[in-house]
Amino acid sequence: MKRKVIKAVFPVAGLGTRFLPATKSVPKEIMTLVDRPLIQYAIDEARSAGIEEFIFVTSRGKSALEDYFDSSPELENTLRRKGKDDLLKVLEHTNMESGAIAYIRQHQALGLGHAVWCARRLIGDEPFAVILPDDVIAGEKSCLQQMVEAYQETGGSMVAAMEVPYEKTSAYGILDVSEDMGQKVRVKSMVEKPKAEDAPSNLAVIGRYILSPDVMENLNRMKSGAGGEIQLTDAIADELEAGRDVFGFRFRGQRFDCGSKAGFLQATVAFGLARPELHDEFQQYLDELMALKSAAQ
Ligand code: UTP
Repeated sequence: MKRKVIKAVFPVAGLGTRFLPATKSVPKEIMTLVDRPLIQYAIDEARSAGIEEFIFVTSRGKSALEDYFDSSPELENTLRRKGKDDLLKVLEHTNMESGAIAYIRQHQALGLGHAVWCARRLIGDEPFAVILPDDVIAGEKSCLQQMVEAYQETGGSMVAAMEVPYEKTSAYGILDVSEDMGQKVRVKSMVEKPKAEDAPSNLAVIGRYILSPDVMENLNRMKSGAGGEIQLTDAIADELEAGRDVFGFRFRGQRFDCGSKAGFLQATVAFGLARPELHDEFQQYLDELMALKSAAQ
């Protein structure tokens, strides 16, 4: 029996430069899809997968994130007085049990691998999940839940994977596959951000991972990789060098790259349409917009 995955690391210390000037004062993870910040989607996904300990790797200027998960007695009392039980219920999802959530600072944005390494003492000798909140994945069963179930069969380390167009491989970690089992693939090697002509496949790593604690050991070496950053992909690839298993997992669901403006807008449309209370009005607006566009052509 594999060990249960109950800890998750949320690396949220990046600068979020693609959303400047907004991210000058608002952490990217607090930016809102319909009415919930990105981080709420990530937390809900982690909870659905059985995660009990939530470790945030933050940086200067991210205090809005810490406040978001704090209790808000004044607001709650006001809502209670006004009998707004529905809103109190909505707020319940933002409440975290004391001790279930921890914040660690990454003092310099040295890369995703470095951010994960900052959590090493809290992870100890256990397998752990990593969730990048700017990858938002919609699906019937959450991506991490699907992965935790698959991990119970495979052990080792596992990365979420999806096919991308070859001209986009230079934006992702790319898998070289030794055995394709359908939903799961056995990984032979991994390359960070290869050009299309150098990419071993078009199977890209997406921001969900279940990692063996050995990956933390690999990160101890502080190897600098693509873009001069300490890359998580490199530390996972070191597992393969050491003869340990790494799997890719083709999740079921639709992934939105909310770290980019176009991806964020697409997610806003998809999540807006998926809300029953918004669907009709929003759909009508989109239909009218399309009709205007075709009339103008
Ligand atoms: P990104 O590559 O999206 O970088 O990081 P970024 O800084 O957030 O955004 P841009 O590219 O400047 O717009 C992917 C994930 O890794 C985290 C980020 O917070 C994000 O969740 N990260 C990245 C860190 O926590 N620390 C780092 O040093 C780098």
